[in-house]
Amino acid sequence: MSDVARYILALDQGTTSSRAIVFDQQGSIVSSAQKEFGQIYPQPGWVEHDPLEIWSTQAGVAAEAVTRAGLRPREIAAIGITNQRETTVVWDRRTGQPVYNAIVWQDRRGAALCETLQRRGLAASIRAKTGLPVDAYFSATKIRWILDNVDGVRERAEAGELAFGTVDSWLVWNLTQGALHITDVTNASRTMLFDIHKRAWDDELLAALDIPRALLPDVRASSEVYGMTHPSLFAAPIPLAGIAGDQHAALFGQMCIRPGMVKNTYGTGCFLVMNTGSTPIESNNSLVTTIAWQIGERVDYALEGSIFIGGAVVQWLRDGLGLIRDAAAIETLARSVPDSDGVYLVPAFAGLGAPHWNARARGSLFGATRGTSAAHLARAALDSIAFQSIDVLRAMEADAGQPITELRVDGGAVANDLLMQIQADLLGIDVVRPKVIETTALGAAYLAGLAVGYWSSIEQMAEQWQPERHFAAAIPPDEAQRRLHGWHRAVNAAKVWADG
Ligand code: G3P
Repeated sequence: MSDVARYILALDQGTTSSRAIVFDQQGSIVSSAQKEFGQIYPQPGWVEHDPLEIWSTQAGVAAEAVTRAGLRPREIAAIGITNQRETTVVWDRRTGQPVYNAIVWQDRRGAALCETLQRRGLAASIRAKTGLPVDAYFSATKIRWILDNVDGVRERAEAGELAFGTVDSWLVWNLTQGALHITDVTNASRTMLFDIHKRAWDDELLAALDIPRALLPDVRASSEVYGMTHPSLFAAPIPLAGIAGDQHAALFGQMCIRPGMVKNTYGTGCFLVMNTGSTPIESNNSLVTTIAWQIGERVDYALEGSIFIGGAVVQWLRDGLGLIRDAAAIETLARSVPDSDGVYLVPAFAGLGAPHWNARARGSLFGATRGTSAAHLARAALDSIAFQSIDVLRAMEADAGQPITELRVDGGAVANDLLMQIQADLLGIDVVRPKVIETTALGAAYLAGLAVGYWSSIEQMAEQWQPERHFAAAIPPDEAQRRLHGWHRAVNAAKVWADG
């Protein structure tokens, strides 16, 4: 093999596993490695990770992917990082030791503080500056909890001894052995402390939340050479050149580079993101406004709707109800009936996310009869993933003032052809599955490759993007409307129950 750097390494640090993928110049996967890590549930509503395990699994899979591809470090042109967003780590700048576990994005412990912020009348200015609703999902109240509840942390933070970071910052710190304390604009825009218009930490919000500025990382673009990995890690330094939160990276990997283009990632939850170009659109329909990415001085904005339970409803059928042996079996079971026979499942196991934002709603089943079988339930579960996605897409159309013409899809659950067909049927537009469904990692690779000249332009990347299959609506629009009407009756009933 020649010594010319011919590959990009993407690190994809997700909520349940750390992954690493090597891509070639065609954007094809050369090798990959993945390792799950522990989920810590100290009490109901709390979710934590061990930051050292995040780092050790991520470093482990990176080395494994490089070895599997038979590469020498010189052959890697750059590393791109993408990560679970909002998850919060605070560590000691001198020792590199975390002062507490990572508080995960799903963790609700900041809810009471959010209510206080709302009572103090801060919601409107927080939304105007950060694009976000006041919610415990974002990093700010997680940082504050650590400051208030871990002994000595506030004093050490004020003395500048500690560092806060989302998972990207934590990885970069470790990859450079403490030389860099940075994040990118996409991750910063999920903290509820960052002004997405000025692209700067906001002193008023820091004061309102009583968070010392000394904790915060420098905010950089999503595609630039930030620095080099420490030589001890890959036997030779490799440029770190791309960072983006996972949903932003997926939008880029799907090459949704023009305003109005939308992707949906079907994972544990579903995350729908629409590129809105150089203009941030303030949502009137309970969506989040966020930075899509920054490349050079070009900043793209996006609208996002997060659905908490997507593929997780399939896990529930498997683990909670024992209806299927593995997740893939849902497709065969659901295909054994033509439809759900009027059964609707509202999988509000963790409340409802966008666009409903109802924290008290709970999972509910409607329309069951003596004739309802496991297959109908399986079908209703798949329908529920599609229905929730449609609610977000309609909100996006209303905010953007334009119809969506196709939906690009990725994530593990898109292997389920029936789910994709149901999505197209109910949505009435084409659902497009790309050849490379690892679009999150690909997006991070593209951002890094662009910064080091491995790819010359976004247009060159866009030419590489290829659909694998189009799913077109195959039921009449009035039938889709009838089913959607049933879904909305079910969601409303679930909300009424929650408020009762
Ligand atoms: O906002 C949370 C999101 O970034 C997590 O994504 O794929 O790790 O579940 P994922």
